Amino acid sequence: MPFVKVASVADVLPGEGLRVEIDGEYFALFNVNGQLHALADTCSHDEASLAEGEVVSHGPGLHEAVVECPRHGARFDLKTGRALCLPAVAPVRRYAVKVEGNSILLNV
Ligand code: FES
Repeated sequence: MPFVKVASVADVLPGEGLRVEIDGEYFALFNVNGQLHALADTCSHDEASLAEGEVVSHGPGLHEAVVECPRHGARFDLKTGRALCLPAVAPVRRYAVKVEGNSILLNV
């Protein structure tokens, strides 16, 4: 499937997430220091919306990007979808995202 427009750049502020829907499926966009990431929105532990989680950047130069689930605090790597701590153990799917002009496009 080709990239589809899901939001405008101004809709996802640095340090925040945004839930978007395509054909009844939900995806979470995140802006970490101006870098966009996209994951499936549903936490692999108990179905919370990851777009509502806290975005954390850490590591040397703040290069690492993580979202913390708002329900029980599992953390996921935004670059891989990998679960980084309990209670989640399964990853969430990661999607390619790109910016064209003022539009954010997602490859689902
Ligand atoms: S629903 Fe996300 S950690 Fe439980």
